[in-house]
This record gives sequence, C-alpha cells and structure tokens, in this order.
Amino acid sequence: MGIKFVATGRYLPPKVLTNFDLEKMVDTSDEWITTRTGIKERRILDDPNLATSDMVVFATREALKKAGLKPEDIDCIIVATVTPDTMYPATACWVQKKFNIKCFPAFDIEAACSGFVYGLIIAQGLLKTGACKRVLLAGAETMSRAVNWEDRNTCVLFGDGAGVAILENSDDDSDILAWDWGADGTVGDLLIQPAGGSKLPASHETVDKKLHSVVMQGREVFKHAVRWMAESAERCIKKAGLTADDIDLYVPHQANIRIIEATLKRTGIPWEKTVVTIDKYANVPAATIPIALDVAVEQGRLKRGDIVLLNTFGGGFSWGSVILRW
Ligand code: ACO
Repeated sequence: MGIKFVATGRYLPPKVLTNFDLEKMVDTSDEWITTRTGIKERRILDDPNLATSDMVVFATREALKKAGLKPEDIDCIIVATVTPDTMYPATACWVQKKFNIKCFPAFDIEAACSGFVYGLIIAQGLLKTGACKRVLLAGAETMSRAVNWEDRNTCVLFGDGAGVAILENSDDDSDILAWDWGADGTVGDLLIQPAGGSKLPASHETVDKKLHSVVMQGREVFKHAVRWMAESAERCIKKAGLTADDIDLYVPHQANIRIIEATLKRTGIPWEKTVVTIDKYANVPAATIPIALDVAVEQGRLKRGDIVLLNTFGGGFSWGSVILRW
C-alpha cells in the first residue's frame, strides 16, 4: 500500500512587501535583490493577533474543503517550522486547539527549510506502519518576526506563509518511491538564530544585539546549498531507479533563483518542469515546498501518476529529497 496526497492548501497573508518598499527601509535596491535572488516581493503577517498556527489553520481549511473532509477526520498533525507560536507547546498543538480536536499525536519538526520534506518521510512511516490513518503535514513560517529588519543581508530574503498536505494510505498507484535525507551539523553556525535557546537565553543584551534573528554567512550557505541540493536530488533519482528525464515536475526549495538554476544545471532537469514561486513569496523556509506544490496543483501542472521530485536544503545544515508518484 502506498501514500497519497489527498489534498493540498496554502495561506499567504494579504500584505505584500515589495523590493521598492524595502528600498525605503534599508540600503538596498530592487535591482540588487532581483538579480541576486529572483525575489520581487514577499508576504507579511502584519496582524499582531495572528501567528504561525493561524496560517496553518487557514491553509488546512482550504485543503479539508478540497478533500471533502472535516477536522476530526485527521488523526495526526505535524508542523514543520522555525518560527513556532511558542517555544512550547508545539505549534501543532495550537492548531489542534483551534480546530478543537484532540487525543491524537501533534508535534513540530525543526529542520529549517528541510522541515516539510523531513516531515513527509516521517509521515509515510506513520501511515505505512498503521500508526496513523490520515496525517495533516504543514510547513509554516512567520519569518517577518524572526529577521533583523536593519540587516540588509537577510531581511530581503524571507517571507511569511503556510502550506499543508493531507496524506493517507492510497488505494491506487500513488506512493513515495524513494527518499534521501541528511544533515551536517559541523557547519551549522553558518546559518543560525543564536539566542532564545538554552545556550543563550533571552536577556537585554541578546535583544540589543539582535541575536533573536537570522544570522547568516550568505556566500558560504549558497555554496553548500547548491552542493547538497544537487547531490541529494541525484541520489534520490538513482534510488528510485529513474533518470532526470523521468521527472515530470520538480519542486525545489525557494531560497534563491540562482541556487535553483545551478541545481538544474547539475542534475539535468529542465526549467520547464520546475515550479518557481520565489519571485512572489520569497523564502518561506519550511513552507516553500508545500506552497509551491499547491501552486502547481492549482495551475493544473499535476495529474495522477506524474513523477514529482521535492528537493530542499536549509539550516543545520539539513537537506532532503522525495520522489513520489502523484
Ligand atoms: N542590498 C544591497 N547590497 C547587499 C544586500 C542588499 N540587500 N545584501 C548584501 N549586500 C551587499 C553585501 O554587503 C556585499 O557588499 P560588499 O561586496 O561591499 O561586501 C555585496 O552585496 C555582495 O554580497 P554577497 O554576499 O557576495 O552576495 P551574493 O551574491 O552571495 O548574494 C545572498 C547574497 C543572496 C544572501 C546569497 O549568498 C544567498 O542566497 N545565499 C543563500 C541563502 C540561503 O539559501 N539561505 C538558506 C535558507 S534559510 C533557512 O534555512 C532558515
């Protein structure tokens, strides 16, 4: 028995922040951001009463509607995020509370931009062993509350949003055919939110020094991203017994259009098969893949039986790829 995506959904907050808006906030330009990253605009969750779990709830309502299901039809919630509502309880538990459903597992995964792909690999294990029957898997981020808005090196790169998938065992050919995942913690400090954990708890000093936001060695991260995304994609294609030509749709993590282009060049996957959302939504770490997948579904780019490659890289460093038959 395989695994099936019953439905996908996404939520992007309505507030748009363009590169031109950013020109008024930091020393940058639309030209620099566009040519270096491919980003033109990003979404911002500007309602202070809403948090990451609310975006998951909005995206889930959409997916449930498409699937003709009710919240109580779900028996596991996994949320991948680096911007949880609270340190604990898990954001997945806040989602449970907002749907008023309980007594089944709900937990978060922290694998930065790789979180959704990691979650998918875990979810298929839960489904195939019979531990769960229907999993809600979400990637969601409120990065606007985790970046330093005075740091032009990072604040231009990220956006807010959520993407979800409802997964269950399939009664047809849909399945996960292969996966590849890994991490290299030895270079983890190249991309880090230094404060707020047990190593550096919140203090006046950590707040003054802006250590509760993304600190990144961009150029180094870029090199690692290209290497690990391409190598992981190639390993995964090989494990599935396929070639790059067999991929019908490529859904890469959206951190930088140049990282996507370099990965395409190395793997031989053509541009026409690639889903790109970075221009409109920027990097929404764990949410980029489910958002891009939902966009592809909406655009009619996926039909049952298609071979899809999900491919990501993020903080940790972590990386992951999944090949699925839709
Ligand atoms: N506007 C204008 N100039 C800028 C900006 C900006 N927003 N940001 C940096 N610059 C300047 C730098 O200060 C530097 O100036 P200098 O040469 O005088 O020192 C110059 O532009 C070039 O900087 P580089 O770092 O060489 O620029 P690069 O071409 O590498 O692009 C970028 C930077 C976009 C950050 C790129 O390195 C990148 O995308 N890295 C990977 C990011 C990533 O994948 N993150 C992982 C996911 S996040 C997660 O997992 C949570």
